[in-house]
Amino acid sequence: MISLRPYNSFGVECYADKLLIVHNLNDLLTLLPSAMPILILGEGSNILFTKNWAGLVILNRIKGIEIIKESGDEVWVKVGAGENWHEFTQWAVDNNLGGVENLSLIYGTVGAAPIQNIGAYGVELETVFERLETVILATGEVKTYEKAACRFGYRESVFKHELKNQHCIVSVTLKLQRNPKKFNTDYGDIALFLQNKGIKTPTLRDISQAVIAIRTQKLPNPSEMGNAGSFFKNPVLSKRQYNELLQQFPYMPSFALNETQVKIPAAWLIQQSGWRGRRVDDAGVAEKHALVLVNYGQATGMEIKHLALDILQSVKQKFGIMLTPEVNIF
Ligand code: FAD
Ligand code: EPU
Repeated sequence: MISLRPYNSFGVECYADKLLIVHNLNDLLTLLPSAMPILILGEGSNILFTKNWAGLVILNRIKGIEIIKESGDEVWVKVGAGENWHEFTQWAVDNNLGGVENLSLIYGTVGAAPIQNIGAYGVELETVFERLETVILATGEVKTYEKAACRFGYRESVFKHELKNQHCIVSVTLKLQRNPKKFNTDYGDIALFLQNKGIKTPTLRDISQAVIAIRTQKLPNPSEMGNAGSFFKNPVLSKRQYNELLQQFPYMPSFALNETQVKIPAAWLIQQSGWRGRRVDDAGVAEKHALVLVNYGQATGMEIKHLALDILQSVKQKFGIMLTPEVNIF
């Protein structure tokens, strides 16, 4: 039995029968097929363990960043799944390659990024994603998935549904832009940061720095307090549902997704339900941000899950909205 506490950003205690680290494709292939159930872990920053893992945990540490093709200003980069995502974004900034700067300081590995199509500050992985290489755990077969086959959505992909826990992604190929001149500064916080700094013509590094500064201010750092970022997804309502709710809650914030759908910040719903900053034993809702559940030290995964269920109930009762977890609960 081996403790998984150092391998999940919630810092909850739980055990696996066995844990192995893979550094390259061959390491992985020699383990397959396995008689034990396998769980692939990156850096454990989007996972909540509520029980022990009766089987093998494989930590993916397959490294490597390689430019595999260039055409004009377009640059295709193949990245090992075990590279740290944030370090990769900084590599891109250092090399003057645009596309992932708004995704700076997202925790975890490159290989986990497609699982929920990571997103922040107006950009999602899918905007730069080309393809991934993966190994089917049951057979050891290596397969390529192009973008359409990944079926990306808001914090969604086929790997969170039909193909859940069946694959180990080993590399991800992204298409970046050399010497980018245009940046995504639509998100209010970024524009405000640049304005406050008096930056009129931002560089790639300015955008990345803005995102890092905003995130550092808003979100608790898992190395100081266990958490997995947003615990729930922001609910998407039809315009009709939204208008009905607005009658009752005229100050409800919202973001129009398209002509017919509106996204509501789950943080606001949770805060209005009275949960921001509340603590039940060592499990709690961050004071900094109502969408982030935290471990004050000794909370178990089950305690955090029960807190999440109580929050779900409150929000359902007050607003009639059923939140869905973003975090993978095991
Ligand atoms: P893990 O937690 O290790 O794994 C997550 C899931 O993916 C598990 O089901 C695991 O089995 C599977 N998995 C992992 N690696 C592989 C692989 N190579 N092959 C197949 N399956 C795999 N997310 C956002 O989208 N936007 C944000 O802004 C954001 N902010 C965050 C802020 C904080 C403070 C924290 C702690 C988390 C945040 N997250 C955010 C969530 C997290 O950073 C991402 O989900 C990240 O992609 C998780 O990477 P990981 O390597 O830690 O994955
Ligand atoms: N708000 C509150 N109370 C709070 C915090 C926020 O009411 O305690 C309200 C405010 O109205 C605020 C709004 O919620 O304007 C949105 O908050 P924020 O800008 O912090 O973004 P978010 O919707 O909570 C989403 C993602 C984050 C991502 C940021 C930036 C989801 C589930 N979360 O958070 O992703 O970093 O936008 O783009 O979509 C993650 O997935 O783990 C994550 C952190």
